[in-house]
Amino acid sequence: MVEKREHWGSRFGFILAASGSAVGLGNIWKYPHMAGSNGGAAFTMIYLLCIAVVGLPILIGEFVIGRKTQLSPVGAFEKLAQKSWWKYVGFLGVASAFVILSFYSVVGGWTLRYTFLALTTGFESFAGNPDIASDAFNSFVSNAWNPIFWHLIFMGLCIWIIVNGVKGGIERWSKVMMPMILVLLVILMVRGITLPGGMEGVKFLFLPKFSDLTASSVVLALGHAFFTLSLGMGTMITYGSYLGKDQNLVTSGILILVIDTIIALMAGVVIFTTVFALGADPGEGPGLIFTILPTIFPQMPGGHLWGTLFFFLLFLAALTSAISILEVVTAYFIDQKGWSRSRATYVFGSIIGIVGVFCSLSLGGFTDFSTVFNISFFNFLDYASSKYMLPIGGMLTAIFVLYRWGIPKFLEEIREGQKGKGLPDIVVKVLFSIAIVVVFFIIANEIVEVFTGSPLIG
Ligand code: PFF
Repeated sequence: MVEKREHWGSRFGFILAASGSAVGLGNIWKYPHMAGSNGGAAFTMIYLLCIAVVGLPILIGEFVIGRKTQLSPVGAFEKLAQKSWWKYVGFLGVASAFVILSFYSVVGGWTLRYTFLALTTGFESFAGNPDIASDAFNSFVSNAWNPIFWHLIFMGLCIWIIVNGVKGGIERWSKVMMPMILVLLVILMVRGITLPGGMEGVKFLFLPKFSDLTASSVVLALGHAFFTLSLGMGTMITYGSYLGKDQNLVTSGILILVIDTIIALMAGVVIFTTVFALGADPGEGPGLIFTILPTIFPQMPGGHLWGTLFFFLLFLAALTSAISILEVVTAYFIDQKGWSRSRATYVFGSIIGIVGVFCSLSLGGFTDFSTVFNISFFNFLDYASSKYMLPIGGMLTAIFVLYRWGIPKFLEEIREGQKGKGLPDIVVKVLFSIAIVVVFFIIANEIVEVFTGSPLIG
C-alpha cells in the first residue's frame, strides 16, 4: 500500500514554515548591509521591484509544481515531463541544497557562538573597539576546532527537527520560532528607534540616495531576490508538495513575500538605528554584524540583554531556513529512493555536516588542501550556489512552466483552491517571460565578468 503523503496541519503552519525558510541570514545579515552601501531606499525600491516581478512568479511556480505532483523536485519534474532531461533540474536543486547547507550551517554555528558570547561576556572587551572585535572574529573563524564545534551543534539541531517530520518537526518548530523572531525584532526595533540619534539610522535606510545606486546594485538586488525567497533549488516545490488542494497558492505566495520583506526592513531598522546612535560606520559591509555590532552593544544601557537577543534572533532565523534546505535533500531520498525519514535525515545530515567541517577549515584552520580556484572552499561554495546554481535552477523552473508544462495546465492547478478566475493566461505568460529574460541576463553578466574581467553592466 502506498503511504499517504504527510501534509501541513494548517494553512497558518504552512505560511510560517515557508516564510521561515525565506527569512534567514539573507534578511538580517545580507539585506541591511547591501542597502546600507547601495543607496538606502533607492536600493530597496529596486529590490522590491525584483522580488515582485522575478521572485513572485517563480515562488508561486514552485508551489504549484509541488502541490500538483505531491513530490519533491526530482520526482516532480519526472512526473510532469516523463522520460525527459527535466528531472536533472530537480537534481540540480538537491545538489544546490547540499552545497548551500554546507556553508550556511557553518555561519549558523557562528550565530550560536555569538549568542553564547553575548550571554556570557556581553562583549565587554570589544566595547568601542572594532579592531579588537574584528581580530577576535577572524581568529574565531580561522580556528580549527571552535567553529566546527558550533557548526556541529547547529547541524544537530537541524537534523533533530527534520527527523520529526513535516508536521511534528518543521511546522511545530516554525510555529514557535517565527513568532519569536517577530517579537524580538519589534523589541529591538523599539529599542533602536528610541535611542538618542537612532532616527538618523531610519532616515539613512529609508531616504533614497539615487547617487549611490549603480548598475551593479541592480544586479545585486536581483541575485538577492532569489536567495531571500529560497528560490531555484526546489525548497518551495518540496514545501508545496505537503499542501492540499484547498490552499490558495497566489495569496500564500504574496503573503510570504510580504513577511519576508517586512522582516528584512525591520532588521535594517534595528541595525542602522543602533549603528547611528553610537556613531559607527554604516557602510562597513558584511562585517557589520559580527564585528561592528559587538562593539556597540556594550556601550548601550542594557546592552548585555540587547546583544544576546539580537544574536539569538539571528540564530533562529538561520535555523528556520537551514531546516528547509535539509528537507530538500531528505525528501529526495524518501520520495525517490524509498528511504525512511530518519535514515535519510541522519545519513545526509551527517554527510553535509562533514562537508561543512571542510568549509569551516578552509577559512584558516587547514587552508592547504581546501582552496578551489584560489578562493577558500567556503567562499567557492557560496559563490557557486548564489551566483549560478540558484539563478539557473530558478530560470529553468520558469522555462519549464512556460514551455514544457504549459500555462493552461499550470493555471488549472493554480485555480484549485482559488475563488474567482485569477489572472488571464497572457499576463502569466508575460510575467514568466520577463523573469526568464532577466535571470538569463544576470547569469550572462556574471559569466562575461569571469571571462573578460568586466561585466556587461555594473
Ligand atoms: N532564504 C534564506 C535566507 O534569506 O537566508 C536562504 C535560503 C534558504 C536559500 C533556503 C535557499 C533555500 F532553499
